[in-house]
Amino acid sequence: MSNNIEGKVVVITGASSGLGEATARHLSAEGAKVVLGARRADRIQKLAGELASNGGQAIAFTTDVTQADQVKRLVDGGVKAFGRVDVMLNNAGLMPHSPLERLKIDDWNRTIDVNIKGVLYGIAAALPYFKEQKSGHFINVSSVAGHKIRPGGAVYSATKTAVIILSEGLRQEVKPYNIRTTVISPGAVESELVDSITEPDVKKGMQEFYDATAIPADSFARMVSFAMSQPDNVDINEILFRPTKQDL
Ligand SMILES: NC(=O)c1ccc[n+]([C@@H]2O[C@H](COP(=O)([O-])OP(=O)(O)OC[C@H]3O[C@@H](n4cnc5c(N)ncnc54)[C@H](OP(=O)(O)O)[C@@H]3O)[C@@H](O)[C@H]2O)c1
Repeated sequence: MSNNIEGKVVVITGASSGLGEATARHLSAEGAKVVLGARRADRIQKLAGELASNGGQAIAFTTDVTQADQVKRLVDGGVKAFGRVDVMLNNAGLMPHSPLERLKIDDWNRTIDVNIKGVLYGIAAALPYFKEQKSGHFINVSSVAGHKIRPGGAVYSATKTAVIILSEGLRQEVKPYNIRTTVISPGAVESELVDSITEPDVKKGMQEFYDATAIPADSFARMVSFAMSQPDNVDINEILFRPTKQDL
């Protein structure tokens, strides 16, 4: 395991597009065994097949991260297939920005359910294995928006700040089990995230910002790879990165 990635079993939620998909491709090319979860079964099955045809090892399980039993099934399925789990990448998320005064309560609930509860369910599914193995690595996805707040982004920023807080609490608690904890906060990265915005005017403005600013999704995959590839006694706890041209 010269790169500390080869042979590792990595569970990725939200692997059907964007950052999760790019990370699955990147880590598979570096020799990791990837366990793909998302609701769009066709996408993750196709990706698993593609990675396998390139010589990788990949398996896909249809997963809705708002359902704790489905996240457990994803991790259990990975362990059954590959014998262990080394990394839990809690990546699934959505960003339906809108001003609070528009009262998009369904959007608020979905954002909280996926971005906060989904991460907690990922922790619940992998932690028993990590404790038993006395090794493991949680990588949770926050955002620059977890550090900064702008009008229209209150609920999303609140969920991403929660991911930072949960990650630091987790980091402190799992010391006895030799578990590493990383939270990654990306700036604008190319993906389908803007499609989760349900207000047309907000979506249009955000799409223009992304078209002008966003960097390729492999930038995120390289951050995951960097954190994973450190020696086991080095725990990269926080990474914040942006496109060079992004001001906020
Ligand atoms: N792109 C950026 O600029 C950026 C910046 C900062 C942070 N992030 C964070 O990066 C993460 C990945 O987002 P992305 O940018 O790659 O956007 P994306 O292309 O829209 O990908 C989001 C992923 O989350 C999955 N997902 C959504 N709801 C889900 C659910 N209920 N259960 C399971 N999976 C679900 C989607 O899969 P299905 O729809 O198939 O379920 C998809 O694979 C998110 O946490 C996002 O907040 C992104």
